[in-house]
Parts: sequence; C-alpha cells; structure tokens
Amino acid sequence: MLKNKHIILGITGSIAAYKAAYLIRGLVKKGAEVQVVITPAGKEFITPLTLSTLSSHPVISEFFSNRDGTWNSHVDLGLWADAMLIAPATASSIGKMANGIADNMLITTYLSCKAPVFVAPAMDLDMFAHPSTQANLDKLRSYGNRIIEPATGELASHLVGKGRMEEPDRIIEVLEDFFATRQDLKHQKILITAGPTYEKIDPVRFIGNYSSGKMGFALAEACAERGAEVTLVAGPVSLETHHPLIKRVNVESAEEMYQAAMAAFPASDAAILCAAVADYRPEQVAAQKLKRETEGEMTLHLVPNKDIAASLGAIKRKEQVLVGFALETNDETAHASDKLKRKNLDFIVLNSLRDAGAGFRCDTNKITLLNRAGVSKAFPLKSKQEVAADIVDELVNVLACVK
Ligand code: PMT
Repeated sequence: MLKNKHIILGITGSIAAYKAAYLIRGLVKKGAEVQVVITPAGKEFITPLTLSTLSSHPVISEFFSNRDGTWNSHVDLGLWADAMLIAPATASSIGKMANGIADNMLITTYLSCKAPVFVAPAMDLDMFAHPSTQANLDKLRSYGNRIIEPATGELASHLVGKGRMEEPDRIIEVLEDFFATRQDLKHQKILITAGPTYEKIDPVRFIGNYSSGKMGFALAEACAERGAEVTLVAGPVSLETHHPLIKRVNVESAEEMYQAAMAAFPASDAAILCAAVADYRPEQVAAQKLKRETEGEMTLHLVPNKDIAASLGAIKRKEQVLVGFALETNDETAHASDKLKRKNLDFIVLNSLRDAGAGFRCDTNKITLLNRAGVSKAFPLKSKQEVAADIVDELVNVLACVK
C-alpha cells in the first residue's frame, strides 16, 4: 500500500524523535519515498545525518540552505506529498499547527500541505491531558487531520501515563490502512448539494423542510476520502465538514443554491444533488415582520424556484455524470423514473418516507438506485455513511463508462 507513496515526515523536539529512525526505515522498506522536515528543536534529539542516510534525501529544516542559498519551497513539498506524518508531535508544535503559527519550515509545510495529515503526539502525561493540548488536538481533528493516539506507558520523566508516541510499526499500519482505502476518485471534481433551503417570508419566518444535511455530508466525506475534490453547496444545517478536500459553500435559499451549483458544475466531473430544495418561494418577502390579522385567513402567493437538477441536466456534457435523489411517499418507482428522465440524470437515488429509518434526519437510509436503462438495485437499511459508499461505488462505475 505504501509503494511509491510520497511521505513527508515532520519531526519535532521530543525524546521520541529517536523512533523517527525506525519509522523511516519501516516506510522505506515498504517502498515509500520519505522526505524529512525537522524543527530546530528536533535536531537536538536526532541528527540530520542519521535521517538523511536512512531516507536517502537531504533533511530540510531551514527556509533556505546556508551552504548555497537554495530556497526550500514548502509549497512544492506540500503538493509533492501523498501524506504528511508528524511524529513525534510535541505540545508546542501541535499548538502552532492548530493556530497557524508558521515560524519554522515544518509548520509552513503543514499549512501548505494538500495531502492528508497524520499527527502522532509525544509528551508527558500532564501536558497531554491539559485542556489546552486537548483543545488544540480537537482543532486539528476539525481540520481533518488524523490523530494517532499516544500509548500509555513509562514516559521520559519516568512517570507512567498516556503520552508515549505510538510505536513506529503501529503508525505505519495506520498509514497502510489509510492507503488501502480506494483512491478511485483521485483528480475528480465532484459537486454535491446538501441540506434544506429556506425561502424567506419575512425577517423572522421562512418555508423550509426537515433535511439535516446528514446524507449529503456523508456523500461529501465519502467522495473526499476516495480522493475527489469536493465542492459542497450546503443549505442551512448545523453539521461540520472535516476533510481538507471538501470546499464548502454555505447558502440559504434555492436561488443561492442554484447560483452556487451553476458556477461549480462546468468544472466538475460529476454532481450529486442530495439537497431538499424548496420548489416554491413567496413571491414577496415582507420587509417587516407580518402581523397577525384579527380576523380572516392569510394567503401566501408562491412562485416556482428554478429546478437545479434540471438546469444542470440541460447543460451536462457527455463526459459529466449527474446523480439526483428522489424522496417519495407513494408510487415511488414511477415518480423517481419520471425525475430521472425529466432532469436528464444518469441515475437517481430513491428513498421513501414509507421505509422506517429512511429519509430526513435519521442516521440511516434505505435506497434503491435506478438508471436510465431501467435497471434498479435495492439496498437494505444502512448507516448514511455506508449508503454514501454504495452511491459512490455506482458513481465510480458510471464515470468509468463516460470517460
Ligand atoms: O438531509 P437528511 O436529513 O440526511 O435527509 C436526506 C434527504 C431525505 C434530504 C435525501 O436523502 C433526499 O432524498 N434528498 C432529495 C430530496 C428532494 O428534494 O427530493 P425531490 O424528489 O423533491 O427532488 C428530486 C431531485 O431534484 C433531487 O435531487 C433534488 O435535489 C433536485 N431538485 C429539486 C427541486 C429543485 N428546485 N431543484 C433541485 O435540484
């Protein structure tokens, strides 16, 4: 799994830096190419000579070489990498990474790195347990970085607790597991719409629906995990995105979602339209809060919104794949087939509110995929993450046919 993979190994100033020698040897043995970037403090614990000998590459520490003035480009390095591993990662470097304090080559490389980042903390038990360290690690997790939890054992201070950097063999296994995940969407650009839209009535009211965004966000994570660059156009939801390959565009109304989707689609290889878009909006948005009339009914005059799926279907090129959803309550297959054709989709994901555990808000879904040839594939109730994987498998197959 690691053959020909480009790994940046970032080493910071911890006694566990000696384990970096074993890490390099293990990674190189598995066929990876390793480029070491070390902080000034790291060099106090292990010599660049040891590291360059094991990795067969000069070790990078400064922004430029004192010998010949050569500039070390952190940007090029960040783009070269298939993964960046920071091991050992001290509390201080974790804090700098979490807060963008780019005062050494390792942190600038980290900030420029487009590849997945793995962080193996190493520190004393109290430093590791401190709320500040934990908050910084949470921040790194929220950036999509993967934390390789330290082990519990005897530490350099001779105290016993959690803080020992994980053993090199185990760290290498984590990287191998990561690369074992298929990267079959690498270099593909995928547009995904997710969540509801809100159509304003007045400054305090809107027409909306129950979509939580869970299904669309699971799709975005699944595509990014498999290497795609994802543009996620998200309606108003309270979910967070984690993966660095996901670019999120927040919108509120169907019109805003339409504009964002139309802007992203021409450069996309595929689009998955999972959002629950309001079909109508109030013709007038009241400037002031509407007051209750003492008597009589109130009428809201609604006008149709643009159909995003149909608009993308109308401009779709033959090498682009368009996937829609159909949320139905009755005559499911007939309605879904009609949407598939009318919106010029390549396939449609049918989910029905008649199935317990399917549709809005829940963590599970039950889907049937229908394609233009009339072939349908029904799946059992699964987590939305597993459902996303099934949809992405189908997308990969269809992309292979149209390219
Ligand atoms: O967000 P969750 O809580 O996880 O719930 C997931 C979900 C139920 C919202 C999702 O699985 C789903 O079914 N999404 C589509 C909901 C929907 O609006 O379906 P529809 O049958 O009304 O629309 C058909 C297709 O046209 C959809 O791809 C929709 O995104 C698209 N559409 C609809 C109207 C419109 N104006 N523009 C569109 O692009």
